[in-house]
Amino acid sequence: MTDVAPPPKRPQDRILVAIDTPDEARAADLSRRLAGAVGGIKLGLEFFNANGPEGVRRVARAAPEETPRGQAPAQQRLFLDLKFHDIPNTVAGAVRGAMQLGPWMLNVHASGGAAMMTAARQAAEFQADSLGVVRPMLIAVTVLTSLDEDDLAVVGQQGPAADQVARLARLAQECGLDGVVCSAREIAAIRAACGPDFRLIVPGIRPAGAETGDQKRTMTPAEALAAGADYLVIGRPITGAADPAEAARAVAAEMTP
Ligand code: C5P
Repeated sequence: MTDVAPPPKRPQDRILVAIDTPDEARAADLSRRLAGAVGGIKLGLEFFNANGPEGVRRVARAAPEETPRGQAPAQQRLFLDLKFHDIPNTVAGAVRGAMQLGPWMLNVHASGGAAMMTAARQAAEFQADSLGVVRPMLIAVTVLTSLDEDDLAVVGQQGPAADQVARLARLAQECGLDGVVCSAREIAAIRAACGPDFRLIVPGIRPAGAETGDQKRTMTPAEALAAGADYLVIGRPITGAADPAEAARAVAAEMTP
């Protein structure tokens, strides 16, 4: 069973902004401008490989310019989206290392198997105890949504992709992971398989009337929440807006029933 906190009640706290850029100055500016308007930022491989752990640390700590005197600068909740996938010992070490950056959420590939996911969970717990911090949420990626059934067959996986998604989500849960990243159209099946206490982190969200860009199957924020999403990963509709904080507030307003 997961011991993770329930999803937040305030709509803005459910928004995780995908900052997909190798440009540290741009990422820091977005992080600063979005402080307080969203639940956290997601930094992934593109940013990490360009700027390293120190770049991640600097962006997560980017404080609003007007931090009141005497108050600690705001720190963004950080979803470190590095999708670890390796032998259990190596993934355990990667989790321990990543936790030096103070992430609130980390992820691994469920297809790395039960021993790998269990090792990741144990490493996160052990490291949280030794650092005296709250254990980050540990999330699995099931089947990359960029793969269709033909792609999966080529790599030797037969049968409906939806079955593989549900099977891997259940396995992740049994290994003590807290949830999965999933597409909006997978929410219902995973909720049915894993119950209400499993966190579902959902990208491919587009506010009503927004450009879909390269996302093929989108849901609006309200639709995704109604379907059972806990957190919404939203990138370009917020990061590409002239006023990102205002765009985030508009998304949060759309989420309020
Ligand atoms: O800009 P946009 O809102 O499309 O960004 C969505 C974010 O979620 C990106 O960081 C993308 O890599 C990520 N993501 C996704 N679909 C998945 C998994 C992750 O769009 N299935």
